[in-house]
Amino acid sequence: MPEISTDLERALALLRAGGVVAVPTETVYGLAADARNPDAVRRIFAIKGRPADHPLIVHIASAEAMTDWARDIPEAAWRLARAFWPGPLTLILWRRPEVPDVVTGGQDTVGLRVPDHPLTLELLRRFGGGLAAPSANRFGRISPTRPEHVVDELGEAVDLILDGGPCGVGVESTIVDLTGSTPAVLRPGGIPLEAIRSVLGRPVDYSSGGGPVRAPGMLPSHYAPATPLAILPADRLWDEAARRAQAGARVGVLTHGLPRAMPGVFVLCLPNDAAEYARELYAALRVLDEEGYDGILVEAVPDSPEWLTVANRLERAAAVALP
Ligand code: TXA
Ligand code: MG
Repeated sequence: MPEISTDLERALALLRAGGVVAVPTETVYGLAADARNPDAVRRIFAIKGRPADHPLIVHIASAEAMTDWARDIPEAAWRLARAFWPGPLTLILWRRPEVPDVVTGGQDTVGLRVPDHPLTLELLRRFGGGLAAPSANRFGRISPTRPEHVVDELGEAVDLILDGGPCGVGVESTIVDLTGSTPAVLRPGGIPLEAIRSVLGRPVDYSSGGGPVRAPGMLPSHYAPATPLAILPADRLWDEAARRAQAGARVGVLTHGLPRAMPGVFVLCLPNDAAEYARELYAALRVLDEEGYDGILVEAVPDSPEWLTVANRLERAAAVALP
């Protein structure tokens, strides 16, 4: 078992010595190392099995620290930072030349965010630098939202897990690229698209599919359980579950409506509220995945702005299609 603790000084000592520490954020747990130490950052890639060209987000203690990592920072960045930091927003900016290539995947840009978790914010303040941290899961898998998920994902490979309890937001940060002529949301997340548009007061690009893959979180198979998964509208969900169960399959169902009891069908019910659903989604997918069902059926969520991030993560989880 890796060490799980709330000891900030121990985490600091490990990070200063080039160690890798799992840290809580309001979105998901991150796997952190000193962003100025290329060897330490390389360990993150090795532990996750992550391809080297996939850049990491640098976590900083305050908006002012943006200037340590980015250059030519547009007014829009300061505005978004004022509105949403600390919080689930990542800004893609032009990087300063000193930022190690291993952090940016060799790109000329860097992702920055101030996470909204008291323990990790205090850690960042005492550390005084930036912490490069992807989600603390193996590459392509479901992000961890509780310390025990990190244990399941990474085991002994991580030096320490800083225990900040369950994550309050439960899905990753919204990524906004400010290096193009129009701001572009590369990944929907904890901050709604509409909130970003309203703070910027101008159009913001977002395309749910298509376009070149700029971020690995945009690969279709990201955030996926190993069990095949299908998304179905509520009016087909239970018939389909019954049909599969009658054919001898063991079926897991994820609903946010009224659960039904059926032989051979295991039902998990999430809240019918987008923010509460998001908070519990990854833990629920983990539970369903661990049961080794033949398939998971997920009730489709509403096609409305507040459900956009949840819908996006469910689509990716369904990349292993159910036959
Ligand atoms: O909520 C979050 O963002 C969590 C917590 C730990 O902060 N982190 C997270 O990191 O989700 P990760 O590495 O799993 O996903 C970060 C995404 C990746 O899709 C990566 O490609 C993208 O951010 N990214 C990072 N730097 C980038 C850059 N310079 N240009 C474009 N995309 C970038
Ligand atoms: Mg990730």
